[in-house]
Amino acid sequence: MASSELISDTEQWKELKAHVGDIKKTHLRDLLRDDARSRAMMVEFDGILLDYSRQQATLETVGKLFKLAEAASLKQKIDRMYNGEHINSTEDRSVLHVALRAPRDAVIQSDGKNVVPNVWKVLDKIKEFSEKVRSGSWVGATGKQLKDVVAIGIGGSFLGPLFVHTALQTDPEAAESSRGRQLRFLANVDPIDVARNITGLNPETTLVVVVSKTFTTAETMLNARTLREWISSALGPSAVAKHMVAVSTNLTLVEKFGIDPNNAFAFWDWVGGRYSVCSAVGVLPLSLQYGFPVIEKFLKGASSIDQHVRSEPFERNIPVLLGLFSVWNVSFLGYPARAILPYSQALEKFAPHIQQVSMESNGKGVSIDGVPLPFEAGEIDFGEPGTNGQHSFYQLIHQGRVIPCDFIGVVKSQQPVYLKGEVVSNHDELMSNFFAQPDALAYGKTPEQLQKENVPPHLVAHKTFTGNRPSVSILLPSLNAYNIGQLLAIYEHRVAVQGFIWNINSFDQWGVELGKSLATQVRKQLNASRTKKEQIQGFNFSTTSLLTRYLQASADVPADPPTRLPQI
Ligand code: F6P
Repeated sequence: MASSELISDTEQWKELKAHVGDIKKTHLRDLLRDDARSRAMMVEFDGILLDYSRQQATLETVGKLFKLAEAASLKQKIDRMYNGEHINSTEDRSVLHVALRAPRDAVIQSDGKNVVPNVWKVLDKIKEFSEKVRSGSWVGATGKQLKDVVAIGIGGSFLGPLFVHTALQTDPEAAESSRGRQLRFLANVDPIDVARNITGLNPETTLVVVVSKTFTTAETMLNARTLREWISSALGPSAVAKHMVAVSTNLTLVEKFGIDPNNAFAFWDWVGGRYSVCSAVGVLPLSLQYGFPVIEKFLKGASSIDQHVRSEPFERNIPVLLGLFSVWNVSFLGYPARAILPYSQALEKFAPHIQQVSMESNGKGVSIDGVPLPFEAGEIDFGEPGTNGQHSFYQLIHQGRVIPCDFIGVVKSQQPVYLKGEVVSNHDELMSNFFAQPDALAYGKTPEQLQKENVPPHLVAHKTFTGNRPSVSILLPSLNAYNIGQLLAIYEHRVAVQGFIWNINSFDQWGVELGKSLATQVRKQLNASRTKKEQIQGFNFSTTSLLTRYLQASADVPADPPTRLPQI
C-alpha cells in the first residue's frame, strides 16, 4: 500500500467488506459449538490469557484480518515506532513510550541518540528523591515529614497515574509500603476540586507535584498557582522550594514558575501525554506513595508486553489481535462503541484512562496524509467495574444496542474474603459474573426456550435475548504492580495497532485546540465585563445571552478581589 493510499481502497479491506455478509449469517451460538475454533482463538502470554472466541468471526475472518495488517504494513509501522522514526508526523516527533520502561542496557534511538540512559537518569533521580521524602530526610519548611502528596495535572498528566494508584491501593505489597501516606490528584480547574483536595491536608506535611508536559495547560497552571498560594500563605513564600516539585518537558517554564530546576523531573517530547504514565508523570507521584521498587515492577510488566508486541507473530500477539478485532467491529461490523468491563474494583479508573488513550489517539477524521477518511475511525469507549455495570447499563448491551465488550478478570483477588457457610468465596462470587456474562451476550435466549419455561406469551418478546453479541475475555493471574503494567501496555499497543491499520496519526491531538482558543476569548470577555463593565461582543446570540445571564447573576463577584482560598 502506497503511503498516500487509503486502507479502505485496498483489496484486503474490500475482501473483508465482502466477508461481512457471510459473518452476518452466523450466530455465536453456532460458532461456539466448534471447540477447535475456540481453541485457536485463545492466546497466552506471560500469565495472561486472551480468549477472543466470542468475536463474530471465523478462522477465515482472522486470516483476512492478518492480510489487512499486511496491507497496512503493520509490522513495519511497529518497527518504525520502536526505531524512533518521527511517526507522529504532524508534530515531527518520535513515539517512544516503550523507552520509558526499557531495561537499563537497552538501546532505543531518537534522532540518532540512545534515549535509554536519560530515561534511567531520571528514574534514578526519582528513586533517590522519593526515598528521601519517604524516609524523612527531605522535610518541609517547618521540619515536618511530608506524608501527603497532591499531584496537579490533567488529561494524560492525571488519568494514567490515577488508574495505577487506584489499582495499587489494595495490593498487599503496595498497601504496606504506603502505610501512613496519602496521594491525591487535583485535575479540574473547578475550585471545588481544589477544596476537596486540600480538605484535611496540612501544608506543613504536604508535597505538591505539578505535572504538565507543556507547563502551559490553563487548568493545571491555575491549580498550581492556587496551591502555591495555599502553601506560601501558610508557611511563607520560601516554603515553596521545599513543598513544590515539577514534572515537565519544559524546564524553562518550571523555573519561571518558581520551582527549583533541581526539583524538576524531566521527560521528553517523544512521550505523548496520554502515553506518559511510565515517565516521571506517573513514576514520581507513585514512587512517593508506594516506593520506587513497587513502581519498578509496574515498569517491568509494561516492558514485558513491549517485547511481546515487537517479537511475537501476529497469531499469538495479544495487542495486535485486540487491535485487529477492534477494527473489525468498528469498521466492518458497524459497532462504534466498546465497553471496558473489569471485574475488579481496583481497576475502577481503567476505563477513564483508556478513554483518553483510545479516543484522543484514534478520534480522527483524516488519514496520516491528511486525506478525509471515507470510514469512521476511533471507537467510543466507556466502562465500569463489573458487577456494578450489570446493575446499570448492561440492559442496553444485552437487549438494546450491540456493544462489543472487554471482560477483564483476575484469578487471585488482591484482598480475598471467605465467609464460613457461604457457597463460594466473595471473589468467586464476583468471578461467576465474569464467566457468565460473555456467554449470556453470545448465546442469548430464544423464544423457544422461553416457551418451554412456560413464560406467558405476552412476555416472550420482552424476555428474548437475541444474543450474538461479541466480547473478548482477558484473564490476569493477579493484580500486582507487574500485572497492572502489563494491562496498561496491552491497551496502549492495541490503540496504536488500530491507528496503524486505519493509517491515521494516533499520536497527535489537534482536536483539543479549538475549544481551548474559544475559552481564551471568553476569559478575556469575562475579565473585561467584570473589571471595566465592557459590553459582551463578538459572540453569537446564544452565547451572548448565556454570558449575560451568568454575569448578571454573579454580579457580586468583586472586580479586583483579594485572594480567597476554599473555606471548608
Ligand atoms: O488537552 C489535551 C492535552 O493536551 C492532552 O493531550 C494532555 O494529556 C493534557 O492536555 C495535559 O497536557 P499537559 O501535560 O501539557 O499539561
